[in-house]
Amino acid sequence: MTTTPRKLFVTTALPYANGAFHIGHIMEYIQADIWVRFQRMQGNDVNFVGADDAHGAPIMIAAEKAGLSPQQFVANIAAGRKQYLDGFHIVFDNWHSTDAPENHEMAQQIYLDLKKAGLIKARTIEQFFDPEKNMFLPDRYIKGQCPKCGAQDQYGDNCEVCSAVYAPTDLVNPYSALTGATPVLKNSEHLFFALSDPRSVTFLEEWIGGNDVDGKPHLQPEVANKVKEWFSVRDNPDGTKSEGLSDWDISRDAPYFGIEIPDMPGKYFYVWLDAPVGYLASLKNLLDKRGENFDAYIADDKLEQIHFIGKDIVNFHTLFWPAMLHFSGRKTPNKVFVHGFLTVNNGEKMSKSRGTGLDPLKYLKLGMNPEWLRYYLANKLNARNEDIDFNREDFLARVNSDLIGKYVNIASRAAGFITKRFDGRVTTAWATDSDSFLSGLRAVAPEIQSFYDQREYGKALRAIMEQADIINAYVDANKPWELAKDAANDARLQEVCSRLLEAFRILTIYLKPVLPHVAQQVEAQLNIAPLQWADVTRPLPDQHQVNAYAHLMQRVDPKMLESLFEMVPTVDATVSAPTNPSSGETSVEDSNIEALAPEIKIDDFARIDLRIAKIVNCEHVEGSDKLLRLTLDVGEGRTRNVFSGIKSAYKPEDLIGKLTVMVANLAPRKMKFGMSEGMVLAASAADEKANPGIYILNPWPGAEPGMRVR
Ligand code: MSP
Ligand code: ZN
Repeated sequence: MTTTPRKLFVTTALPYANGAFHIGHIMEYIQADIWVRFQRMQGNDVNFVGADDAHGAPIMIAAEKAGLSPQQFVANIAAGRKQYLDGFHIVFDNWHSTDAPENHEMAQQIYLDLKKAGLIKARTIEQFFDPEKNMFLPDRYIKGQCPKCGAQDQYGDNCEVCSAVYAPTDLVNPYSALTGATPVLKNSEHLFFALSDPRSVTFLEEWIGGNDVDGKPHLQPEVANKVKEWFSVRDNPDGTKSEGLSDWDISRDAPYFGIEIPDMPGKYFYVWLDAPVGYLASLKNLLDKRGENFDAYIADDKLEQIHFIGKDIVNFHTLFWPAMLHFSGRKTPNKVFVHGFLTVNNGEKMSKSRGTGLDPLKYLKLGMNPEWLRYYLANKLNARNEDIDFNREDFLARVNSDLIGKYVNIASRAAGFITKRFDGRVTTAWATDSDSFLSGLRAVAPEIQSFYDQREYGKALRAIMEQADIINAYVDANKPWELAKDAANDARLQEVCSRLLEAFRILTIYLKPVLPHVAQQVEAQLNIAPLQWADVTRPLPDQHQVNAYAHLMQRVDPKMLESLFEMVPTVDATVSAPTNPSSGETSVEDSNIEALAPEIKIDDFARIDLRIAKIVNCEHVEGSDKLLRLTLDVGEGRTRNVFSGIKSAYKPEDLIGKLTVMVANLAPRKMKFGMSEGMVLAASAADEKANPGIYILNPWPGAEPGMRVR
């Protein structure tokens, strides 16, 4: 393949900075991250950016409630993002904010350009105003009695009891949800983007029904059809008339947390005007940091601008946003990829704000493997915008039977013999033999490629697992463990296992967009450079030496899923030491734990410098039956050598790559086997006979080598 690389600019919707990520956000990012990783493996050139959507009345009000400035409030939210993204291996090239200077500047410029194009109209509207708070009230902050059924405390736009739709001014006895005051009607001049202008309608009709430079439509067919309904003038089945596109109100009165309109003091852009501009602002910020030219990059015809979004925000991305770009003289999006909503355990709807059901951070903190979720969601994802459901039984089955049972197990059944019996060397003797399953495995590459490119991840994974079935059938037919019993079969054993490792390598390429971390481990074990798609046809060379096999992934323990969906916080379950019936308190004397050491002051503790350490290597110590030799990275730019008496509890290969905690300021100690530069921490029972276990500490995901433990 010698096609020129594609130039891709990819975004996901910018989450409101009023709360932590929920599983719906994570699903969207995983969908886009898989696509981006896939494109990069093809040699395509991608910039993948996100940002916080910082503006709007709800965030302003939430900040006020928290006693913070809106800037501080959104900064706090932003600080919480990294642990989720890192935790699920979601790698944005940049994460920015719609309140950043680039966005202020660009949103204002786009507005001025639209004004020059004659598409901004001023109109005076009458709106509810809270006389106590001195502000105009957004519809969702006005409540009252439903004009249809009389239900109390209904929102300003629709009734939750009888589903009637109305204007806030129709409410009986309206009140401000902020202060309880009776709102008064007041006039205010608002700015509108003239979507009803024939120029807008003509452009949008063309864009929505139109094709991109690659001949494929800008929108999925079901999305285009839905959007077309919005702007056609027609008679509805219920006898009402649809008016077609109406002008879009793009201004809000102070107080508002947003971007000031250049020529109208006291007026701000409605949050949805500057939010999508945030895509460009985040990209500009990235390119500026790299010293690249944003204007040239974004205007390039060859650039494909692609937005991943959910089905609830289609109108903003298929009407307002393309029109804003087009009429301000900018390039319009190439594709808007719309996904459905994620529901949890049989369609119980997740609320956008509460996001109940599956807390992504809790998932990580329980030690659940992020790649289980990536694999599971990928299995469910397709190119349509239908909802998908997270179902626990299904999750357990997909991960344990397919991912571990079919894929991971191939390596564990073949790699050991290569290391133990053949000094880690693979043979390509098989290449001359009939290697029909390897050529079959390579032959599906284009099909899998096309599934990924079309976001048909479920289909891609099913095609991959079909191949895994064929490979497993080969394992069962050739039984390496039987061959290994007789040295006379050595040549055959090496050949069978080499062929299996080659098959495993190819499967790993196919799965790498979904399982980036596993792929990295496989690359290290196979002792090869990061896998690219083109490596499908580049087998391991004859006599290539692989490293020792370490298990790649554990199975899902159903207990984890139970904890994940338990409503009580996880910590509660662990506080169940025996209690003293008379006092109702627990004391050490009643329990069988070791007696506590004498009390210390905080300063005493502070003298001990505990650090997160990464175990970069671990090996047996010749002549010692207790010790393992650990090579630790504490983020110092060098490694430390530490001996630890944990040989009875751990195999070296199980520790490599893991994080633990060490005493980093312990005086170095000369031991029989060398210098020990610190100590790793481990738990053990007082009564070693009853419980001989040794348990080294392992921090929760997100901790990094060098971080201090305090
Ligand atoms: N701030 C706007 C987007 C501005 S884009 C210029 C917004 N934010 S949001 O936080 O409410 O949603 C962000 C994204 O998450 C949207 O694409 C939305 O569709 C998606 N999801 C929200 N809940 C979801 C599910 N339950 N499932 C899947 N995606 C979901 O809208
Ligand atoms: Zn009602």
